[in-house]
Amino acid sequence: MTGCLRFVKNTDSSRWEEISSLLKLAHAKNKAAGMDMALPGLPTEELKSFVERNNGAMFLAMDDDKIVGTDCVIFKDYKMWCGTGMYAYECLASVHPDYHHQGIYRALDKMRDKYISEHGIDRVLMDTHEKNSRVIDIKEKSGFKKVGLKVFSNHYSVVMVKWMNKAPYPDFVYAVVFNVIRIYRKLRYKPGNVKRFGI
Ligand SMILES: CC(C)(COP(=O)(O)OP(=O)(O)OC[C@H]1O[C@@H](n2cnc3c(N)ncnc32)[C@H](O)[C@@H]1OP(=O)(O)O)[C@@H](O)C(=O)NCCC(=O)NCCS
Repeated sequence: MTGCLRFVKNTDSSRWEEISSLLKLAHAKNKAAGMDMALPGLPTEELKSFVERNNGAMFLAMDDDKIVGTDCVIFKDYKMWCGTGMYAYECLASVHPDYHHQGIYRALDKMRDKYISEHGIDRVLMDTHEKNSRVIDIKEKSGFKKVGLKVFSNHYSVVMVKWMNKAPYPDFVYAVVFNVIRIYRKLRYKPGNVKRFGI
């Protein structure tokens, strides 16, 4: 770390090249381990356009003027077995490899949740490659439950939800329903024969 860490909500669209490079760097290890996720790998212009057309809010961790962490929230409306209506969708979470295990993601997580609550939204969803056990562990420790499985052209992604207040069902309900969905989707859909299936 070179200076003082700060956490900001980004309003400066000139930093997209840097955000895009950080995402690719942070995901390089995932990619080498066969976890190739679509969104972080998008070219800079497409990434910027994805966030802007969804009115996304970017949260950044800065070490002096260097971006060392990212997180993004967009709001969506969807119906799922565990809830309907508007929800927040978290994406583009990354921390520079030199800054891992220092609580940077945890701080971004707090900032993101505050923003979501201020918008009167009661739940946040995210998904990640089913083999991304580091992220799944972090998410479970911070109160997310596994609720679904998306099928992409080259992998399955676990869908997880956290309620800002109290989860409506006891933990065993999420565990049972998630496992039923997981088994069904894996039997029914194989990556490669679908473009994308899920939320
Ligand atoms: C996943 C990633 C963002 C984590 O960043 P990080 O800054 O190293 O994470 P933190 O230091 O904030 O988390 C540290 C600890 O706090 C815990 N934690 C984080 N948020 C928490 C919360 N809200 N409540 C409780 N615990 C929490 C984590 O479990 C973790 O514990 P551990 O280090 O003992 O395992 C980082 O590893 C990364 O960039 N990975 C590659 C990109 C990637 O996979 N992105 C996610 C795509 S979905």
